[in-house]
Amino acid sequence: MDFYDVVKNRRSYRVYKPDMPEEEKVERIIEAARLAPTWANMQGVHYILVRDTKNVKAVWDAIGQETKFIDAPIFIIGVISTGGSGVNKSGEKYYGVDFGICFEHLILAATAEGLATCWIGWFNEEKVKKVLNVPKKYKVMGLTPLGYPVKPKGEVKERNPFEEIVHYEQF
Ligand SMILES: Cc1cc2nc3c(=O)[nH]c(=O)nc-3n(C[C@H](O)[C@H](O)[C@H](O)COP(=O)(O)O)c2cc1C
Repeated sequence: MDFYDVVKNRRSYRVYKPDMPEEEKVERIIEAARLAPTWANMQGVHYILVRDTKNVKAVWDAIGQETKFIDAPIFIIGVISTGGSGVNKSGEKYYGVDFGICFEHLILAATAEGLATCWIGWFNEEKVKKVLNVPKKYKVMGLTPLGYPVKPKGEVKERNPFEEIVHYEQF
């Protein structure tokens, strides 16, 4: 799929078929995240692939968004330590930026493979860490189900108009 088609086709899916995505597709998706750029190439993001039914259910439970994502066959959980990236000139830690870049590579690659995802930022981090045995220094910054969608994509949600968000030369 052409890059711009991938960007246009990506949607957040909240209902999944239980069918397991093919191993080669999953590997290509993780590989796309692995190749993402990071601060000084620090590559602090780790990915936890959860496919065992019992663990999938435990992650789903820790997300706690009612019936959303209920039949998802896989969850991919992204973690990074707060020291896993750089610090900018204002003294702000950049790990969240590195994480975002890597995870969006993953999400777009899944779209290119014809698979559905939904970036999830609202979950019980303590519960997720406990279920997955994540060491204390790591933060769970986001997760996504991975699978085939029940319904094909719908309309693109409205976005702010180009003219409203693009500024030339000065804000
Ligand atoms: C950082 C981030 C966190 C999100 N967290 C959630 C979430 O916890 N639950 C959910 O249903 N959707 C979540 N979403 C999906 C957004 O609601 C969705 O991307 C947005 O409404 C635009 O729709 P689209 O992704 O279908 O284009 C999240 C998206 C991002 C980028």
